[in-house]
Amino acid sequence: GPALALDVADGESIAELRHQADGCTRCDLYRNATQIVFGEGSVKAEIVLVGEQPGDQEDLSGRPFVGPAGRLLDRCLEEAGLDRRRCYVTNAVKHFKFTPRGKRRLHAKPNAGEIKRCAWWLGAELNILQPKLVVTLGASALYALLGPKVKLTPEGGRILHPENRPPVLVTIHPSYLLRIRGEADQHRQRRDFVSDLHKAAEYRP
Ligand code: URA
Repeated sequence: GPALALDVADGESIAELRHQADGCTRCDLYRNATQIVFGEGSVKAEIVLVGEQPGDQEDLSGRPFVGPAGRLLDRCLEEAGLDRRRCYVTNAVKHFKFTPRGKRRLHAKPNAGEIKRCAWWLGAELNILQPKLVVTLGASALYALLGPKVKLTPEGGRILHPENRPPVLVTIHPSYLLRIRGEADQHRQRRDFVSDLHKAAEYRP
């Protein structure tokens, strides 16, 4: 079944959830992270963007998508004509998971258990916001919302309509674009990503 727990935090507002989440020990990731990185943006947002987890800079600043992937996301949103101020931006997992490598902290992929534990917060955010569309950036966000059966390939670029939940537009994660080596492939994938974000901007239920 879907990974998104029906069992989610009970809160009246995003501010209240954020406050509750500050002390979160639902999985072990709080032990090494600096702080929780909760979602942010307009509480009237009709579009919710869901990433994977905070990165190094997000962990230090406490804000989602402010590092390299966030800057690329901002440029792509602008090209797509989707104003970030119209969106609420959050992550499937709200603590930074990393492997120390010298002075650096390398991103480590959250596992299924961590994603499910953290859906407690994501599900509550969506219950409060009731967006007209959720955009999943990458496989972890897609897993958090739709479980193990729905895959980025072949669903990328599509809008799915789960029962009793907001529609989900499936797309890639911007940090994937940063890792593509071939220039032609990178251009193609970036163009498709911008086109997906444009679909979100234009979406009418
Ligand atoms: N990548 C994500 O998935 N989320 C962030 O907040 C930053 C980078």
